[in-house]
Amino acid sequence: MLKNKRLQAWVEEMKALCKPADIVICDGSAEEYDRMWSLLTASGAAIKLNEDKRANSYLVRSDPADVARVESRTYICSENEIDAGPSNNWTAPAQMRETLNGLFDGCMQGRTMYVIPFSMGPVGSPIAHIGVEISDSPYVVTNMHLMTRVGQAVLDELGEDGDFVPCVHSVGRPLADGEADVTWPCNPENLYIAHFPESREIWSFGSGYGGNALLGKKCFALRIASAMARDEGWLAEHMLILKLTNPAGESKYVAGAFPSACGKTNLAMLIPTIPGWKVETVGDDICWMKFGDDGQLYAINPEAGFFGVAPGTGMDSNANAMLSLTENCIFTNVALTDDGDIWWEGMTDEAPAHLIDWKGNDWTPASTTPAAHPNARFTVSAAQCPVIADEWEDLKGVPISAILFGGRRATVVPLVNEARDWQQGTFFGAIVSSEKTAAAAGKIGELRRDPMAMLPFCGYNMADYWQHWLNVGNKPGVNLPRIYYVNWFRKNDDGKFMWPGFGENSRVLKWIFERCNGEGAAIETPIGNLPTLDALDFDGLGLSEEDIALLLRVETEGWLAEIPLISDYFDQYGDRVPEEFRAELEGLRNRLEAARSNVA
Ligand code: GTP
Ligand code: SPV
Ligand code: MN
Repeated sequence: MLKNKRLQAWVEEMKALCKPADIVICDGSAEEYDRMWSLLTASGAAIKLNEDKRANSYLVRSDPADVARVESRTYICSENEIDAGPSNNWTAPAQMRETLNGLFDGCMQGRTMYVIPFSMGPVGSPIAHIGVEISDSPYVVTNMHLMTRVGQAVLDELGEDGDFVPCVHSVGRPLADGEADVTWPCNPENLYIAHFPESREIWSFGSGYGGNALLGKKCFALRIASAMARDEGWLAEHMLILKLTNPAGESKYVAGAFPSACGKTNLAMLIPTIPGWKVETVGDDICWMKFGDDGQLYAINPEAGFFGVAPGTGMDSNANAMLSLTENCIFTNVALTDDGDIWWEGMTDEAPAHLIDWKGNDWTPASTTPAAHPNARFTVSAAQCPVIADEWEDLKGVPISAILFGGRRATVVPLVNEARDWQQGTFFGAIVSSEKTAAAAGKIGELRRDPMAMLPFCGYNMADYWQHWLNVGNKPGVNLPRIYYVNWFRKNDDGKFMWPGFGENSRVLKWIFERCNGEGAAIETPIGNLPTLDALDFDGLGLSEEDIALLLRVETEGWLAEIPLISDYFDQYGDRVPEEFRAELEGLRNRLEAARSNVA
């Protein structure tokens, strides 16, 4: 049945290692999908939602110890430690293989081993790549069905000797003869999410959740793909892709990198508040870009679905996400209503009077804990999004006109700042910092540098990645996107967001669109090109002049205070930091100091 020789050999090898009770080669069919849910509902792992409320949809509750990506247990196992760089955990490949061989030996006893052939990107696209995930989790199979393209078409594309990225996953809980299973098997004490960028392999043990277990997503499409992209001259990025159309019917495509839970899904599905403008979705999390013959960067969304943050998603904040979720969905760690539907914080203004919370306990509005876990997620096919762009599955991808970088910053960083050129834009991407969110285990709110929103996702030395970005910009004959540094998360002294965000972000997109057409006014400032106060359309927002000025202000002292921090940050990466970045930092400091003495 498996024609691909390497795949055949690898499956045999994994079978011998993991010792499953059974093997299933997944075909991606609806019948297979339903079969997984029969298993999951029978075991108590999943609850089928009320068919009249949320057709063909399921609620799954994970183990409370397995609710987010675990960066502290995520490894980049390159031969040399320096090639993983200071931002990644590193273990020598031979040592990691020994650990993994021990853990995986017999790890699927009593379970079925699913072999999931999947394509990241439309099958046959020159920008797409193929992976095969082996997993003992039927929940993973269902999510992979929605998040990737699974099945025979992928095996056909692979042929006898096509290349694929092998991805091995186990929940890490073998079952002894007759042993009863738990509803969410996992093994958090022995968690490993290990990547071998040189041999392009992924091994994940002990978690069944999200990016730890759906290996096409962060593990392949970002960590391994970023290393492939470096070798092959393209870009694999943690970016949404949107199509922006102006009132005259002209369209441009924009990609944007924001850290986890910082607004990619929201921006990708935004409903503009300015008349005549339209946003359509191409992707909400990952973007692969390769150069076309015309020197433009063409992007595909390598995923087929959305694995989106549920809390905070409502008809007010993201109507198009809500409208995508009417049927055929998976909900993980959300609350269950008394009539068999789902709820989470932010879905409606008022919470239902009674719920079953994400841990399976009774919940009322008087409860002191959230009903849904802050990193509760929905899984849904992208095709269900009412504003999915017609060309979202175009094999050749969409040409990117602008790239945004952003993070959560309460202070200093203005609403929008245009880079002079690709080099300064790359520098902007590298210095992005953001307050930590619930998407990863750890302390929420802490400020950390998250360059290009890739801190947890770059599969090699971050400084080499920066150099790769600069190299991409130095290719002869290319027509590069413009780059913008944005911040929707500025707060006032009372701790309230100053910018209304969400649909109002269309005002910033409009200015960017105009800039790409050589229109739209900007002033050169020490930090970059900022819109003039009247170039951004603030009509009808009710913002005070002071607020507008603050949103677009150059905070000379704030920036100057950051310069030594950025310099120290670069120092962590030693001599691999591109010279161009030192020059950008020096130039920024000189311009800011000149501005300060002008004022004085
Ligand atoms: P991942 O899937 O983890 O990569 O996250 P994401 O970047 O897609 O994040 P998402 O769009 O799901 O945003 C999650 C959070 O950002 C929610 O709490 C939203 O309320 C908040 N958010 C999104 N857009 C805005 C905005 O424009 N302004 C403000 N203040 N909050 C926003
Ligand atoms: C993120 O954390 O950036 C996500 C969710 O998109 S996960 O797939 O769990 O990584
Ligand atoms: Mn993400």
